[in-house]
Amino acid sequence: MTDFLRLAEDIAREAGDMILAKRPTMSEDVETKSSPTDVVTILDKASEELIRERVRAARPDDRFLGEEGGEAPGASGVRWIVDPIDGTVNFLYGLPDWAVSIAVEVAGQVVAGVVNLPARGEVFTAALGEGAWLGGERLRCNSGVPLARALVATGFGYSASRRAVQGRVVAEVLPRVRDVRRGGSCAIDLCSVAAGRVDAYYERGTNPWDYAAAGLVATESGARLGGLRGRPVGPEFTLCAAPGLFEELHDLLVPLDPERDS
Ligand code: IPD
Ligand code: CA
Ligand code: CA
Ligand code: CA
Repeated sequence: MTDFLRLAEDIAREAGDMILAKRPTMSEDVETKSSPTDVVTILDKASEELIRERVRAARPDDRFLGEEGGEAPGASGVRWIVDPIDGTVNFLYGLPDWAVSIAVEVAGQVVAGVVNLPARGEVFTAALGEGAWLGGERLRCNSGVPLARALVATGFGYSASRRAVQGRVVAEVLPRVRDVRRGGSCAIDLCSVAAGRVDAYYERGTNPWDYAAAGLVATESGARLGGLRGRPVGPEFTLCAAPGLFEELHDLLVPLDPERDS
């Protein structure tokens, strides 16, 4: 295990334990951001603050990008990319699928990723070139699954106009696949591809903190991760599946998906 992965895992576990411990008394404090669907709790902020402090103490020259607090500069060439709670709506409703997600990027490439699911007692980890793991179990994504037999996870962005488009896209996908899941956490959806719990995942409009750590878990499990039309994964589009299914789903999505939406 790399030093980066060890540090990221320690911090992700500490943040997860803190959230679980404080949750019964603090979780009512909820604000909305871009729309009524886009919520943030006091524990999203507390989790990010804890992670920022731990990273600053251990690696003061690193850059830091977090969903709630934005960018902090650093000159080391290392950047931490953090979603303090991915799946905030699940968290708010007492559903167990939410995660603390921490990625470490060196010279623009993610080299370590941790996705901690405190309410499920599961920690997904990956280091570049060293595989994807769920605890001590090495992960391999499902392979050889045709589109018609694929269980496909997806997600919806927060703006109403984007949701209207995404609803039309999923209506076309649904009759062509085994079934569709909307789990509520991009990071967990990508880890689910890695663990073979779903066959594929796609979503338009996620952010680096959603997919950075879990994207490495997915690729280290053998999955392909990318955008549409040959582009790399990015805020525009995230598509993930074993090679073969990736291309089939890509070719279904391209004519359905607009190049741009709001
Ligand atoms: C959201 C979740 C959700 C996805 C959204 C994300 P948040 O992150 O990952 O599954 O559909 O696009 O913004 O706000 O819960 O951290
Ligand atoms: Ca959010
Ligand atoms: Ca997120
Ligand atoms: Ca979040």
